[in-house]
Amino acid sequence: WGYLGHKTVALLASRHLLPETASFVRSLLYRDQTIMDAAVWADRYAHVPLGRYSKGWHYIDARDEPPTSCGIQYNRDCGDDGGKGGCVVSALVNMTSRLQDDTLPWPQRAQALRFVLHFLGDIHQPLHTEHLARGGNGVHVRFHNHDTNLHSIWDSAIIEAAHGRASDRSIARLTDDLYNRLSDGGMYAADKEHWRSCLNVSDVQECALQWANESNAYICSYVLAGEVEGKELGGDYADGAVPIIERMIAAAGYRLAGWLNMIVCGRDGLE
Ligand code: ADE
Ligand code: ZN
Ligand code: ZN
Repeated sequence: WGYLGHKTVALLASRHLLPETASFVRSLLYRDQTIMDAAVWADRYAHVPLGRYSKGWHYIDARDEPPTSCGIQYNRDCGDDGGKGGCVVSALVNMTSRLQDDTLPWPQRAQALRFVLHFLGDIHQPLHTEHLARGGNGVHVRFHNHDTNLHSIWDSAIIEAAHGRASDRSIARLTDDLYNRLSDGGMYAADKEHWRSCLNVSDVQECALQWANESNAYICSYVLAGEVEGKELGGDYADGAVPIIERMIAAAGYRLAGWLNMIVCGRDGLE
């Protein structure tokens, strides 16, 4: 995701943290750093020479054949063998255990937190779970008459066209919207039980893989269901994508809170 997606995931999660989790998170942020700023650090880091090794940690390249067949196979798709350095699933698992390791010095645990805040978001972006054309980066499309690529519009252009460019105001408003949809009688109330279901499973990799698979299923059902190369996607296609993106951002924020609550308190703290 871009800034609007990641920052909304983080702000939404912060509203579901248990008090003890919230203090733990605060203790690992820099002075004046918000949870939203911390959540977008990993994308800048991946683009500076020092952090380039972490680029492959932002996605998992599922190699099924969409739109006919979708699905993640960890050993085939993660790239943690053959020296490729892993994927978003292995990175989330590794950074989660570093975050839990109280023998690590503060800077390393703080960095692990920034990665976890970020990867919970990315794993919910369908194209971050797809190999084809580098997650759609190589698929040329048009969006409101501008040349761009499929990955980029799913990261940011579609959601920003619906809710405004990332700003304190647009982030707060989208977070409020999604928070309300999660409350009793809201549009996502019935999804919460499913969204929290794997948090209590002891196998964190299994849980992350399940989320990646859910995300990847949208590749076949919507993202690449029809011909997109060269097409203008600012109309009906974007209209159909908005509810998917909003739902995945809400799921990511809710699950991020549960994930952090499990780490700090041993229970997901969700309701
Ligand atoms: N590079 C290769 N695969 C990618 C993906 N799924 N998302 C972003 N960048 C990628
Ligand atoms: Zn992306
Ligand atoms: Zn990323």
